[in-house]
Amino acid sequence: MKSAGNAPLMETANLPARRRGWTLDAEFYTSGAVYRADLEAVFFRHWIYAGHLSQLPENGCYFLVELGGESVIVARARDGEVRAFANVCRHRGSRICAEASGKTGAFVCPYHGWTYETDGRLRAARGMPAGFDRARHSLKAARCEIFHGMIFINLGANAPDLQKEFAALDESFRIYDLAAAKVAWRETYSVAANWKLAVENFMECYHCAPAHAEYAKCHALTSSADCAELRPAMLAEAKKLGYQTRTVGGAPPQKNAPPHYYARHPLYAPFQTGSEDGRAVAPLLGAVPDYGGGVADVQLGPVSFGLFYADYAVLYRFTPRGVQQTDLEVVWLVSAAAEAGRDYDPERLTWLWRATSEADKKIVAENQKGVNSRFYEPGPLSEEEEFVDDFLRWYLAEIS
Ligand code: FES
Ligand SMILES: [Fe+2]
Repeated sequence: MKSAGNAPLMETANLPARRRGWTLDAEFYTSGAVYRADLEAVFFRHWIYAGHLSQLPENGCYFLVELGGESVIVARARDGEVRAFANVCRHRGSRICAEASGKTGAFVCPYHGWTYETDGRLRAARGMPAGFDRARHSLKAARCEIFHGMIFINLGANAPDLQKEFAALDESFRIYDLAAAKVAWRETYSVAANWKLAVENFMECYHCAPAHAEYAKCHALTSSADCAELRPAMLAEAKKLGYQTRTVGGAPPQKNAPPHYYARHPLYAPFQTGSEDGRAVAPLLGAVPDYGGGVADVQLGPVSFGLFYADYAVLYRFTPRGVQQTDLEVVWLVSAAAEAGRDYDPERLTWLWRATSEADKKIVAENQKGVNSRFYEPGPLSEEEEFVDDFLRWYLAEIS
């Protein structure tokens, strides 16, 4: 897909400089020009989590991903290949698919009926003049790649190799075998805030004690004395069980490098997983041999995150819908063989991260209201917000 060029980046040339260790000026969260620059520099250039392979169980299955003003169709074509296309008709540009997901033998534009194969090729177009070449009017393709069962898309013209980008995470992910998992539940939270406020909130746990009692009850907060005390024994146990115990990545401030991260954090005994009562909520994932008292915290690119417990994984994706509107999609993955009702209760499975996401949705919207105030000015970050600082440095390099 073609990018709209670098005009939005030029519009942002005179933005105020940021003091290291401080939050951004309000313009970064309120300006349409910055928003357009963000779309180009972050969302149309980097790999973005689109969905999980289990959402496309058969040929002809598809789902839509909304990104900024763009709509992308991700489909398993007749040949079984997973592909992504712009949801834009090659006739006069109508949206083709309106349903968020489904199964079809062909994509038929509702406007004049141009019909596309599930691999994007134009199959039929009525009444076109002699010499019309169907082969030149396929749907515009986006890059689409799969990493451990997770489908990523990239709308940029020069997408880097995804497998290389995430290679450092490969070993840490293997034990969870997420390719053999399935989506058990999905929720989309519509957050009334700029996407950066939502991501910043996700990148720090300074707010966890005051805002997330449910989370703080089972997770030893990263900066706490408890965490320091529990970590060595948790890591020793995790190592014995075959989990990757080395921390990988972090949010690198270098331009063009995708943030990626893997680290293990301790849970309080007797919590086996992230659940209300601490007991398991689903059968163990993939090749996971036992609980081990920890949780993996991961980041895959700028706006996709995950928490991997022994029995389920939760994936987070932030996608912008407007300057002050962001979709937070949360996906719960369990072992593909697990059956709802028999092996897991969706209510128990999703309890912790529904409660946490609801709270975050409110916190972040309140943050945006304050940033919109004439009284807002950048504030100093705490030591527990170092990942926010890293993220902001990376982000500013990307849009500069
Ligand atoms: S715009 Fe799609 S068929 Fe005319
Ligand atoms: Fe939070």
